Amino acid sequence: MRAPADLSKERLEGILAQAAHLRIGVVGDLALDAYWHADMTRSVLSRETPHFPRPIIREAFSGGAGANVANNLATLRVGRVVAFSVLGQDWRGDILSGVMAASGIDTSPIIVSSQRSTTAYIKPLLTGYDSQQEDARLDFENDRPLDPALENALIDTVLRHLPDLDALLITDQMDSNGVITAPVREALNDLAAAHPAKYFVVDSRRRIGLFRDMILKPNRMEALSAFDPARKPQTIARDELARIGTTLSAQTNRPVFLTLSEDGVLVCAEGTHRYLPAAPVRPPLDPVGAGDAFIAALAVALAGKATSWEAGAVANLAAAVTIEKLNQTGSASPAEILARYDLLQARRSAP
Ligand SMILES: Nc1ncnc2c1ncn2[C@@H]1O[C@H](COP(=O)(O)OP(=O)(O)OP(=O)(O)O)[C@@H](O)[C@H]1O
Ligand SMILES: [Mg+2]
Repeated sequence: MRAPADLSKERLEGILAQAAHLRIGVVGDLALDAYWHADMTRSVLSRETPHFPRPIIREAFSGGAGANVANNLATLRVGRVVAFSVLGQDWRGDILSGVMAASGIDTSPIIVSSQRSTTAYIKPLLTGYDSQQEDARLDFENDRPLDPALENALIDTVLRHLPDLDALLITDQMDSNGVITAPVREALNDLAAAHPAKYFVVDSRRRIGLFRDMILKPNRMEALSAFDPARKPQTIARDELARIGTTLSAQTNRPVFLTLSEDGVLVCAEGTHRYLPAAPVRPPLDPVGAGDAFIAALAVALAGKATSWEAGAVANLAAAVTIEKLNQTGSASPAEILARYDLLQARRSAP
């Protein structure tokens, strides 16, 4: 295996240490992940309906989508993490803001509107005498597009805070009715073009090909969807991936980090491309949230003036840390990233 893009331990320490001096914003879709634990051994058949109720004995909450990206930035000890979005005026919004604020994220610019419903994914987990099973998820989503007045308010908020930010992460997670609408995206595209010294980094599930002058982080499927949505991502050969990544990079005039799950990342930058292998992981694995950890570490490294190759290697390490964290989206601290670097070096020097 090659060195992680020739990243020395001293460089890695330096990149992680300067996170404290960075101010990074996250704009986009935020979600609340809720875990409701039901103890079915306490359930008694309802008298009114032929159903066994789910007696909830414990609930836990965490931030999803952009909120998880922001949480990853906070775990990386970024000096200031600021969130921009629109939440509903509801209990889910209150809990989500509370969860984010508890991680040290500045939620004060978040707009709250009675016209919106805070996205939430509620995961009921049923426990029996000696078994566990998930019930169907309960989803709260928005059933109509973001109102133009709220679009403008969101754009204005970002505009006001931008001078105080080194980097802005865009999380465009919803298939429809999210906050990164076409006008919001265009406004962000204009801001990125007008501020080439700031790092705009995008994660977009459906529309990665529509962002300009920004650093892109698509996975295989997202990159492919910009060109040929009908193709199966598993069928793409490496040279074709490189062509897609290079084309996207030429289109945006910025580096592209095409993440490849267990195969690491394809970095297209400076007119060339390089595959950086994934960092070592020890099963059991839970890949949920790998992308969020990746993009957060990527932004920290880039805004800290790492090269694209160094940034890809740091992001691979951070993502590997989180996928070993089971039953949680997880985030990676500087100490955990350094330990993963040591593991990689040990594996490489082993006979
Ligand atoms: N099995 C694995 N082993 C090692 N690293 C992994 C593995 N899966 C993912 N990663 C790391 O996580 C990064 C992001 O993974 P992936 O390409 O699946 O992103 P994603 O699809 O955006 O993830 P998500 O499902 O969280 O949105 C990879 O570039 C790699 O560094
Ligand atoms: Mg992703």
